[in-house]
Amino acid sequence: MQSIESALQETALAIEQVLDQILTLEDAAEIQLFDAMRYAALGGGKRFRPFLTCQCAKLFGVDSSNALRAGAAIELIHCYSLVHDDLPAMDDDDLRRGKPTVHKKFDDATAILAGDALLTLAFEVMVAPATHEMASVRAELVKGLAKSSGGHGMVGGQMIDLAAETMALNIGGITRLQQLKTGAMIAFSCEAGAILGRASNEAREALRGYAHDLGLAFQIADDLLDVEGTLEETGKAVGKDEAAGKATFVSILGAERARAQANLLADQAVEHLAVFDETADQLRAAARFVVERKN
Ligand code: IPE
Ligand code: IPE
Ligand code: MG
Ligand code: MG
Ligand code: MG
Repeated sequence: MQSIESALQETALAIEQVLDQILTLEDAAEIQLFDAMRYAALGGGKRFRPFLTCQCAKLFGVDSSNALRAGAAIELIHCYSLVHDDLPAMDDDDLRRGKPTVHKKFDDATAILAGDALLTLAFEVMVAPATHEMASVRAELVKGLAKSSGGHGMVGGQMIDLAAETMALNIGGITRLQQLKTGAMIAFSCEAGAILGRASNEAREALRGYAHDLGLAFQIADDLLDVEGTLEETGKAVGKDEAAGKATFVSILGAERARAQANLLADQAVEHLAVFDETADQLRAAARFVVERKN
């Protein structure tokens, strides 16, 4: 089997190409907006969410060009969420994916607008016929993208995340925070593959269980990297959560137990894939990757 690193790289290259085509430059007064959008979305990132979409879609024999478009739409939302997450009013970060953050490279207003435009562009990409020939499938994808990225998903999680700097959260509270902030988009990244492939309820249920555990493990690993990782490897500042007094799995459980929890979740994620044959092996590898990653 191809290594997960090389499979991820293959998807990242393909996604870069799709995004490069989608993010056109406009030679007009608003050119800075498009410069900032390209700056935010191109040339970095693991592209883990599109990877999940492509691997899940593969289970159902979906054409890779369709999976890549859906994955690109999800990645556009992810990139917008990072641009806004880094703003001075939120995490106030200067470095992202090894480069100055968008508001540092441009300015705060441009970063807000570039985020807004990436967010709305994502829906334009998802709803276009090139994503899937059936309008009903596209409608289901758009609905899922809206739900997972909005107030009942990522944005809601970001709100709780800010509150977690001052509010004492218990494990249940943190789990919910992570599920919304990170888990919802990861879950939808998997579900998008099933929607494109018009998968059976049984297959969707299995992927839902997988994605739930994977998403939590992913964010625990992110919190561990904030404590144990390096700026060089992660491409972003570390030690930020503790400095902000943010409640995370690591602050509550300690690093060792948090890692044990992430490993347990990764094992559980793999168990959900028992209904699939070896076509799901990269998804199985992804569960290990998530907890062992260094960036
Ligand atoms: C970082 O996401 C933000 C979280 C939700 C934890 P990633 O770790 O996927 O960041 P990139 O896309 O690879 O830069
Ligand atoms: C951000 O979480 C999650 C988003 C939805 C953008 P973090 O604030 O922990 O992500 P990093 O550590 O800055 O990448
Ligand atoms: Mg944050
Ligand atoms: Mg942050
Ligand atoms: Mg973090």
